[in-house]
Amino acid sequence: MKAIIFALGLLVAVVRTGRVTNAPHVPHINARDVGANGRPTSYPVNYFDQQIDHFPNSDRYSPHTNDTFKQRYYFDSTYYKSGGPVFLYIGGETSGPSRWSNLQTGIIQILMEAFNGLGVIIENRYYGESYPYNTSTTDELAYLTNEQTIADFANFAQHATFPNVTGDLTAPGTPWILYGGSLAGAETAFSIKQHGDILYGGIASSAPIWLSVGYSNWYNPILKYAPQDCVTRISRIVDNFDAVVASGDRSTVNNFKALFGLESLTDDRDFAMLIANPIGNPGFYQTATWQEIGWKNGANDFFEFCGNVTNIDAPETITQVDYALANYTKGQPWAGLGGYADYVKREVLPLCPNGDYNSNDCFGTQNASWWADTSNSGTRSYVYTSCVEQGAYIDSPKSGPALLSRVINTTYEQQWCKWAFPDGKFNKIPDSPAVEAYNAFGGFDFQADRLAFIDGDQDVWNDLCFHSDFAPQPRPQSTDLHPHYLITGAGHHWDSSGILNIEAEPQFIREAHKWEIRTVKKWLDKFSDWRAAFAPA
Ligand SMILES: *[C@@H]1O[C@H](CO)[C@@H](O)[C@H](O)[C@H]1NC(C)=O
Ligand SMILES: *[C@@H]1O[C@H](CO)[C@@H](O)[C@H](O)[C@H]1NC(C)=O
Ligand SMILES: *[C@@H]1O[C@H](CO)[C@@H](O)[C@H](O)[C@H]1NC(C)=O
Ligand SMILES: *[C@@H]1O[C@H](CO)[C@@H](O)[C@H](O)[C@H]1NC(C)=O
Ligand SMILES: *[C@@H]1O[C@H](CO)[C@@H](O)[C@H](O)[C@H]1NC(C)=O
Ligand SMILES: *[C@@H]1O[C@H](CO)[C@@H](O)[C@H](O)[C@H]1NC(C)=O
Ligand SMILES: *[C@@H]1O[C@H](CO)[C@@H](O)[C@H](O)[C@H]1NC(C)=O
Repeated sequence: MKAIIFALGLLVAVVRTGRVTNAPHVPHINARDVGANGRPTSYPVNYFDQQIDHFPNSDRYSPHTNDTFKQRYYFDSTYYKSGGPVFLYIGGETSGPSRWSNLQTGIIQILMEAFNGLGVIIENRYYGESYPYNTSTTDELAYLTNEQTIADFANFAQHATFPNVTGDLTAPGTPWILYGGSLAGAETAFSIKQHGDILYGGIASSAPIWLSVGYSNWYNPILKYAPQDCVTRISRIVDNFDAVVASGDRSTVNNFKALFGLESLTDDRDFAMLIANPIGNPGFYQTATWQEIGWKNGANDFFEFCGNVTNIDAPETITQVDYALANYTKGQPWAGLGGYADYVKREVLPLCPNGDYNSNDCFGTQNASWWADTSNSGTRSYVYTSCVEQGAYIDSPKSGPALLSRVINTTYEQQWCKWAFPDGKFNKIPDSPAVEAYNAFGGFDFQADRLAFIDGDQDVWNDLCFHSDFAPQPRPQSTDLHPHYLITGAGHHWDSSGILNIEAEPQFIREAHKWEIRTVKKWLDKFSDWRAAFAPA
């Protein structure tokens, strides 16, 4: 199994135990190196002086500031020819350098090569090193909103400079095409809708555009597509555990926890979250889950986990654990429990080397002071956005089979918000995420000219995306101006990755990339008409 989560292409991604909580430290390399594949191995950092407050007349940001912060960006001009378009990759909820692969071998490389374009990654405000303030108090986080974030992109496109690249590449004189995956996909969509007079077009990949406070549909693709014996075993174990909790039989609850070596995890929800780790849980990913399966560098952890839960040849020391609580179920074994508990003990518990499982530095979440730490971090910024306007707290389903114990509902995550962001002098978080602001862009009816939606039907976030099972059906027919594509068999923004040879890609990824190229070509062919209408020369 992979020791760490390798990418935060996630909507909710908080990786603890000293691993990827903050942006990895990447030295600023000034000389560009070229790898064996002929692509740059690193990019020099550039800084854009970005306004902290784009809305001097909005009460929401009072008191206002005219200050700026240094926003990082990275660009690749290896394919660029004068007159070519600019492809702007939205960094989203992680650092700019952790997105370099998109310039090197991924979707931006594909588009740059096809159109002699210039590729640029912008690091979102409050991520990586693009912080307006040295700490992140509730007041200092007031400018971390969707509207400020997307205003950054429009302002950047109008004023960006690219050292050593001749000519003025600013928007709207040059076509700027945005690309984002996950939260950045939604930001791409919001940007094109809001700033379509500056930003020419965008591809929103696995973009959550319809938000709800709780999001139990996260588990739907796993319930549907994962090995079904694994799904059945886990959901029955969850049912049994939930029945024991509901009965108030604390001694059996504790016996169950002890099978996983987790009797010290006092809060049942913390325990439920921890044992859901290999599948996916409300916020803390200690191991790779279904979401981290990929077509290029994907993790196999989920399948190894299921292999253990369903192993019918496991040694007796493991299978006998299935009977440990059988007295509670009229003698019926809890099939797969031994393999489940053994996997968690072997693969998850060692991630807390000091064995203090209940501490917030390991698997506990109930220490209010830990949450209140105002140090800058991508995790903190992400949690803030979730609490304020994004919601999408993963919770257990209200009906049907559950892979996450029903002890977890949105109250669990809302408590973290309260601990993390006490009222400031000027700013306070709402009692519950105000998802209406995102949904006001259109929700499942979202539409903007030259905005493409591309999703994956096995993506855990898909039910918040354009191709959600809960969107009005049938979806509107795809057109050149409002294109969309659902990649069969694909997970979370799988079209972001590439291997420098489209023909050699798995067939549905290959076709998605060809579709993206065709889509962008049709848009670019009409750029001069648009420019004549919007920005007379
Ligand atoms: C920002 O600058 C404008 C124009 O100079 C000025 O009118 C305004 O008062 C300034 N705002 C703050 C908060 O300093
Ligand atoms: C923020 O930190 C930098 C670097 O340590 C320091 O120069 C600056 O004065 C700090 N700013 C504030 C407002 O504390
Ligand atoms: C621009 O070119 C100069 C001279 O070749 C070089 O020293 C500098 O590193 C280049 N800057 C960037 C950002 O590539
Ligand atoms: C159980 O998990 C381990 C990783 O911890 C993996 O190597 C092994 O193949 C899995 N067992 C089965 C039967 O799938
Ligand atoms: C199950 O119940 C029987 C009869 O009461 C008892 O002898 C046995 O020890 C119990 N087994 C477990 C694992 O608790
Ligand atoms: C709670 O978290 C704070 C801040 O990280 C830490 O100093 C304190 O020791 C923690 N308390 C417990 C009981 O773990
Ligand atoms: C979550 O569950 C707790 C305990 O049963 C309950 O008090 C709370 O109201 C629930 N919250 C929601 C949002 O349903």
